[in-house]
Amino acid sequence: MTCMEICFAPMEGITGHIYRRVHHEIYGDSVDRYFTPFIAATYTKSYKTREKEDARPENNAGIATVPQILSNDAGEFLHAAGWLHEMGYREINLNLGCPVSTVVSKNRGAGFLRVPEKLDAFLDEVFRDLPEGMRLSVKTRIGFSSPEEAPSLFAMYKEYPISELIIHPRTRNEMYSGLPHLETFALAADLSAKIPVCYNGNVNTAEDLELIRDRFDWIHAVMIGRGLIADPALALKIKGRDRDTPAPGLRVFHKAIYAAYKEVYLSPSFKKNADGRLPVGQQGRTGAGASGERVLVNRMKELWAYMGRMYPEGERYLKEIRKARNCVEYEAAVRMLMNNCAEEKAAPRGFM
Ligand SMILES: Cc1cc2nc3c(=O)[nH]c(=O)nc-3n(C[C@H](O)[C@H](O)[C@H](O)COP(=O)(O)O)c2cc1C
Repeated sequence: MTCMEICFAPMEGITGHIYRRVHHEIYGDSVDRYFTPFIAATYTKSYKTREKEDARPENNAGIATVPQILSNDAGEFLHAAGWLHEMGYREINLNLGCPVSTVVSKNRGAGFLRVPEKLDAFLDEVFRDLPEGMRLSVKTRIGFSSPEEAPSLFAMYKEYPISELIIHPRTRNEMYSGLPHLETFALAADLSAKIPVCYNGNVNTAEDLELIRDRFDWIHAVMIGRGLIADPALALKIKGRDRDTPAPGLRVFHKAIYAAYKEVYLSPSFKKNADGRLPVGQQGRTGAGASGERVLVNRMKELWAYMGRMYPEGERYLKEIRKARNCVEYEAAVRMLMNNCAEEKAAPRGFM
């Protein structure tokens, strides 16, 4: 269907290195680049275990990985860039999109967009001192409170040698709801001669991607988040690689990702650390300090919040999954779902 580049969006708490590895093992190079969830830059290099494990080259072997950095301090950012450069990375990404209050209140993520003069100074310093040979891409929203902020933000980005501008055409205040502002995204056409532009937002099906590609034929890539979590075969389907051999479905993917997480959360080393510090960098919304089994089941429930879209007839079993308190209940609920409901060929369209 298309040979446009497809990037897997960073999703904190979901697309860690274990998820990325399993996805890559099953769906091969259908995704061209995987972005890590954000790594908060520090001067001290005392990164969280999750962040270190996510960036560790051994955990990303054979997978095109782009580490993403969250910062509003050029010195701190450059420190992180140096650390990643030492590990062999040649592309890093700046997060200007995170809408979470705790991040935004410090003028980081999408919060940086409301102080554009500071962002301008930051970019100026960062591009002056970026390690030799390091490319810097930027993932941005179109404004803090209004899409009307977009033209001046785009004009600012144009002044810098940004290797790729990934645009999620929503404002910070819109979080993840409503439809993306495609009319505002259209204004980036002017930038595309200088900076490769990547579209991000609400691409859930191959038809959604067609719509975006037809309307914006100047984009060089599309980044997909929730659509790929719901349907991990989506990039493969978009690239038409399921025509001769059917794409592995959620039954196959679920088996592999559940086994990979089980190995981590049910291992003795997990228990050793169960006093609040989770091993292998899996701290997150799953509840530090909880038993490995609880963390495992909660982690799987987070995936089902998206994967459930592929089973429109499965609500009663999805409810059982959400209620599961341990592996036995969880496995029984998943078995019932998969045995009684057929997986759809595509998730509901993202631009309805
Ligand atoms: C649970 C969750 C975690 C996310 N974590 C990050 C992150 O760490 N860095 C980032 O730039 N965007 C993050 N995002 C935003 C996504 O990368 C993406 O921009 C957004 O979901 C829109 O794309 P989609 O409609 O294809 O999902 C997150 C989104 C969600 C829902």
